[in-house]
Order: sequence, then structure tokens, then C-alpha cells
Amino acid sequence: MKLIDLSSVERVCSIGGGPIGAGWAAFFLSKGLSVKAYLHSEREEDSFRSMIDTAWISLEKLTDLVNVNLDLIQVSTDLDDAVQDADFIQESAPEILSLKQDLYNHLGKIVRSDVVICSSTSGLTMSEIQAHCQTAERTVVAHPFNPPYLLPLVEIVGGKKTNPEAVDWAKNFYERIGKVPLVMNKEIPGFIATRLQEALWREALHMVVNEEATPEQIDKALINGPGPRLAIQGQCLAFHVACGEGGMATNLDQFGPALKLPWTRLHAPKLTKKLRDSMVLGCNDMTKDQDFQSLALERDRKIVEILKVQKTNAS
Ligand SMILES: NC(=O)c1ccc[n+]([C@@H]2O[C@H](COP(=O)([O-])OP(=O)(O)OC[C@H]3O[C@@H](n4cnc5c(N)ncnc54)[C@H](O)[C@@H]3O)[C@@H](O)[C@H]2O)c1
Repeated sequence: MKLIDLSSVERVCSIGGGPIGAGWAAFFLSKGLSVKAYLHSEREEDSFRSMIDTAWISLEKLTDLVNVNLDLIQVSTDLDDAVQDADFIQESAPEILSLKQDLYNHLGKIVRSDVVICSSTSGLTMSEIQAHCQTAERTVVAHPFNPPYLLPLVEIVGGKKTNPEAVDWAKNFYERIGKVPLVMNKEIPGFIATRLQEALWREALHMVVNEEATPEQIDKALINGPGPRLAIQGQCLAFHVACGEGGMATNLDQFGPALKLPWTRLHAPKLTKKLRDSMVLGCNDMTKDQDFQSLALERDRKIVEILKVQKTNAS
């Protein structure tokens, strides 16, 4: 298969006007790429532009944006027009399998054959999404973490019909624009990071429904306990280092037997009205009257600082 040379990629199409499509659009632009965004409806343009403005506040702190202009983002509600000159496509359409299958069926016919099409899907497999696509060999999952303009991780995996060259191409592309691509060994539900997040979430829900902890207590524990350490050392390395010279061997040999109970009681809690209401009330209590825009800005401001520390740590 013949794919466009990485150094020739200049124009990118970001499909979707939600937080992920807008986040990607801002990120690509910050890397000097010219961006055309596909919005499903003209009514989305104001919220799309406002999300780009929010992203830009953080991107300006992380990247040298000389010669990069926000006005360079073009918007189209005509899919054929949006993808016409694109050298790369990032699809962030709604998480509905039949919708994505139809979309890839269409994209497969209209997108230049040397162009890789990546999906931001957070839960579907590419084998499912590419089912009706005639040119499925260049379709790849590239799952970002929210907000995609800040968090470096992109989980990458192909489907049954994907050519491994397209997976390699995607990995090299994201690396080139400053992301941290993680190529997965196989398609698994929830990929790696979301699956870990789900395990944490499941335990949090258990504690809330059993009135063992409030959402505020859970978040206080995470932010002041494992949170800062996780930004520097992942779960495996942190436990290895925590056990001194014996490392992970000591950890598992010494503490393993005691972990049987916590490891085996992890079943999904039932989403009852009580659980729903306790979680919603607890989160509203925590945020008081702060609006979502200021909560997102505070989150981004602090993530920017963490990313700067991580870069120092890596060098
Ligand atoms: N929200 C998250 O935290 C998150 C994180 C990582 C990945 N993702 C994935 O990214 C994708 C987009 O997520 P989102 O939260 O931005 O979604 P969203 O539902 O908010 O937005 C999707 C956008 O898709 C467009 N759209 C609607 N119908 C369409 C159609 N028929 N064809 C093409 N485009 C259409 C619209 O412009 C809409 O704004 C999903 O696959 C989701 O699973 C989401």
C-alpha cells in the first residue's frame, strides 16, 4: 500500500464539532498544520470556536505559536468538501456504531487512497467500524485522552482489515507532532488507559452507593495520594519502587496473598437511583457554583504545569 509521506502532510481534516473534534483541531493547528473541521450542523460553529479558544489558552503556554493563527481553522458542513484536500483524517463523530460504519463506508469512497483515517473512538473496535469500508486497510483507531489538545497519550490499534503499515504510519505521525502514541498488541474493549480508569470508577461507585465515602472524599484521596505520583510513575513502577531493593518481587510475594479479597470483589455496582443521585449531589457539592468553563480552565492550567514537570523528568 502507498501512503502519503509524513513530511508531506500539511492539511488535516478533523471530523466532529464536539469536545474531541474541536480539541484535535486546535492541537493540529498549534503544530502548524492547516485544519479543516467538519461540523454536522452550522449551529455548532459558536460552541466549536469557543472550545478552540479555550484550548488555545493552554496551547499558547506549551508551544511556540509564532506564525500560527487561529483564523486558519476552516469549517465546513459538507463532508466531501471537508475531506477533499486532506492529507490525514481524524474522525471524532458520535460514539454510535452504525453511524461510524456508514461514515467509514462513505469516507472509504471519497478520501484519497494514500490518506490514513484515524478514529478517536473510546469504546468501539476498528474491526467493527471498518466493516462496510471498501478501503479499510488505511483505517486505524487512535484514541486520545480528554482534553486531546493537552494530554499526550494516543492509543493506537488497527482492525482485522487494517494494513500494519497504516498503524506504523499513524504511530509515526502522532510522534512527529508531539503526542505519545501507544501501539496496542490487540483490540481490547476500553483499550489500556480507559480500562484502568474504569476499574477506579467502579470502586468509587461502590464506595458511594455503600455510603463508605462521598465523591468529595474519593477525589480528595486521589488528588492528594496517588494522583501526583501517577503523573510521574505509573502504577507498576510506583509499586516496584515502593518496595525498596526487593522491588516488584517483594511486593507480590509479600502483599499478594492479602490482595486476593480486593482483587476478587471487583464486580460492577448496580446503577440504582440512589447511586445516581448520591454521585450527582456529591459532585455538585464539590463544584458549588463554579461553571463548567472555569472548571475546565482550572483543570487545563494545572495540567500544563504537570506536563512541563513531566518533560523535565523525562530529560
Ligand atoms: N468525550 C470524551 O471524553 C472522549 C474521549 C476520548 C475519545 N472520545 C471519542 O471521540 C468521539 C467524539 O467524542 P465527542 O465527545 O466529541 O462527541 P460528541 O457527540 O460531543 O460530538 C460528535 C460530533 O460529531 C459530529 N456529527 C454528528 N453526527 C455526525 C455524522 N452523522 N457524521 C459525522 N459527524 C457527525 C457533530 O459535529 C458532533 O459535534 C467519540 O467516538 C468518543 O467516543 C471521547
